[in-house]
Amino acid sequence: MYTVLLVLHFLGLALGVGTGFAQMTLGISTRALAPAERTQFMLRAAALGKNGSIGLLLLIGSGLGMMAQRGFSATLQWGGGAFHAKLALVAAMVLVFGYLQMLIARARREGGGPALATLPKVGQVLLLLGIAVVICATIAFQ
Ligand code: HEM
Repeated sequence: MYTVLLVLHFLGLALGVGTGFAQMTLGISTRALAPAERTQFMLRAAALGKNGSIGLLLLIGSGLGMMAQRGFSATLQWGGGAFHAKLALVAAMVLVFGYLQMLIARARREGGGPALATLPKVGQVLLLLGIAVVICATIAFQ
């Protein structure tokens, strides 16, 4: 069972952090498009956010599952400070992700506008948080 949870954790990682990298590349490669065309494209590309949601849910669900199997306090002791930092960063990720979803909904309602213009910056913050979590996890569980 633990192995299944770890596989789900890595699939969640591929989906979640992979979405951040994909969005960044799409943002860079569409810079030269006319504003109206770019707006249409980015509104469609926001559908990738579904993969990000599934990835984050898989990470949290499988992560908590692994902790439950090992024992919560035993895992906290095993992972030490780096694991505590990882959990704090995951909490920050959840908040930023919620804000991102709110911006996507607003951008769809308004057909672009300031919400769409803010999306890339918030996406970058989320990607940096994701990378920081991977670094903390690697240090914690080596
Ligand atoms: C509540 C959320 C989370 C919990 C409770 C959690 C818990 C865990 C646990 C217990 C392990 C150790 C697995 C093992 O090696 O046996 C682990 C590994 C890992 N986690 Fe998480 N995790 C969470 C969220 C995340 C997120 C959001 C990411 C990435 C963005 C992430 C990335 C990783 C990575 C890369 C490893 C493998 C580290 C290694 O084996 O060197 N985790 N996690």
